[in-house]
Amino acid sequence: MGEERYLTIALTKGRLAKQTISLFEKVGITCEEINDPNTRRLIFVNEELKLHFFLAKGPDVPTYVEYGAADIGVVGKDTIIEEHRKIYEVLDLGFGKCRMCVCGPESAREFLKSQEQIRVATKYPNIAKDYFYNQRNQTVEIIKLNGSIELAPIVGLSEVIVDIVETGSTLRENGLVVLEEICPLSARVTVNPVSMRMENERITRILRQLNERNDSQL
Ligand code: PRP
Repeated sequence: MGEERYLTIALTKGRLAKQTISLFEKVGITCEEINDPNTRRLIFVNEELKLHFFLAKGPDVPTYVEYGAADIGVVGKDTIIEEHRKIYEVLDLGFGKCRMCVCGPESAREFLKSQEQIRVATKYPNIAKDYFYNQRNQTVEIIKLNGSIELAPIVGLSEVIVDIVETGSTLRENGLVVLEEICPLSARVTVNPVSMRMENERITRILRQLNERNDSQL
C-alpha cells in the first residue's frame, strides 16, 4: 500500500455524539480519548486507520465538509437542509429520529388557516422561510432564535414556532402542540465531493461498514 493520507471525520457535539461514536466503535473505528469527558483536546487520532476525528457544533459540520477540512461529516438532516452546503448526503443512520414541525398553542391554528401574517420564531430561518413562502404561500415574519424556541409563543414573541419535535415532552410541558409537520429528520453521513472522488475506496468502505452494522435502522 502507498502512503495513505489522514481522512478527517467531523462529528456533531451533543445529542448525536454518543450514538455516532458508539456506531463507529461497533465497526472497529475506535478512538478512546474522544470519550474522555475531561479532555480539552479538539482533535483525536486513530493512527492505525489513519483517521482524524473532531467534534463540532451541528451547523458548522456541513461547513467543514464543504471546504474539505473534514472529508466526512455526521450531522442531522435539519442542519443539512438549513445550511444548504455543497456536500453529498450519502447515508441515513436512522438514529436521532425526530420531526421538523410548526408548533404553537392550539389557538394559533386559525392563523394558519386564515393565512394571516404571523410571526414565526425559529432556529431554522431557511427551513421556515421555504415552508411558509414556497409550500404554504403564506407571508410571515421570521424571527431567528438560538435555543429554547418554545418560549417564544408563551411570552408573546411569536404566534408559532418552527422547531424539532422528538418525544413531544417539551411541547406538552409548555402547553403547546404540533400544528403542522414539515419533514422527518435523522442523523446523516455527508461527504465532501472531491474527497468522494479522490478517496472513493476508503470512504465507500467506511460507509458500507457503517451501513451494515447500523441496527438502529431496523
Ligand atoms: C430541541 C428542540 C426542542 C426539543 C424537542 O431542543 O429545539 O426544544 O429538543 O425535544 P422533545 O420533543 O423530546 O421534547 P434542544 O434540547 O436541542 O435545545 P435548544 O432548546 O437549545 O434548541
